[in-house]
Amino acid sequence: MKSKQIAAERAVELIKDGMTVGLGTGSTAYWAIQKIGELVKGGLSVQAVATSDKSEQLARQLEIPIIAFTDIDELDLTIDGADELDPDLNLIKGGGGALFREKIVASASRELVIIADESKAVEHLGAFPLPVEIARFGAEMTMRRLRKLGCTLRLRGAGDMPFVTDNGNYIADCSFASIEDPGTLHDRINRIVGVVENGLFIGMANQAVIGYENGTVKLLKRSSNQI
Ligand code: A5P
Repeated sequence: MKSKQIAAERAVELIKDGMTVGLGTGSTAYWAIQKIGELVKGGLSVQAVATSDKSEQLARQLEIPIIAFTDIDELDLTIDGADELDPDLNLIKGGGGALFREKIVASASRELVIIADESKAVEHLGAFPLPVEIARFGAEMTMRRLRKLGCTLRLRGAGDMPFVTDNGNYIADCSFASIEDPGTLHDRINRIVGVVENGLFIGMANQAVIGYENGTVKLLKRSSNQI
C-alpha cells in the first residue's frame, strides 16, 4: 500500500497548473487521483480525462474537473499503473480490465508516466497473463485464434458470468509464460479479427516511478533508463 502511494504522489508532482491530465485505473492510480483531488482543493487548475468509469466516479467525488475525451486532441500528461514493466518500459496492463481506454488515452498523451510498486518491475514481460479485450460476438473463435499464438487462455469471469469491460466486451487472459518479443506479439494479437486491443504497451511510457516499501522511489526513463 505504502509503496504504491509514494510512487503515485511522486508522479503527481509532475502536474503543473493548467494541464490536461489522464487519470489511470487501479489501486496505484487511486492514490494519484486522491492526491490530485487534494491539490485541486488547494487551488490547482487541471482538466482530466479518466480511463475507466470507476476512476471517473472517484475524480468526480473529489471535484476534479472532468472533460470528455472527444473534446480534446491531446493530453499533457497521463499517470497510470501497470501490471508489469520491463527495463525498456514496455508494459503489460489491463489487470483491472481498463486496457482499451488506458491505451487510447495514453496514445493521446504527450507524456505517459507509470506508477508501480517494486513487484511490477521485471526483466521480461509475461509472468502476468496478458489481458486481451475481445468483442463478445465470435468470442469463441477469437479465443481459438489467440490460443494458436501459443498461450493458455482463460476468459475472465465475474462470479458466474464473464467479466464485461466498460466498453461492453470480454477479457481473455493469455498466459505466454515469457514474452521474448513484445512488439511482434502485440502486432500478431491485434491482427486477429475480434480483438479490440491487447494489454501490451510498447514504447508508450516515457517514465516510471517505482515505489519501495522502505519509502524510497526509483525513477526510470525510457531512453536513458535509470536516472
Ligand atoms: C487496469 O486495467 C490496469 O491496467 C491497471 O493499471 C493495472 O492493472 C495496475 O493496477 P494496480 O495499480 O491495481 O496494480
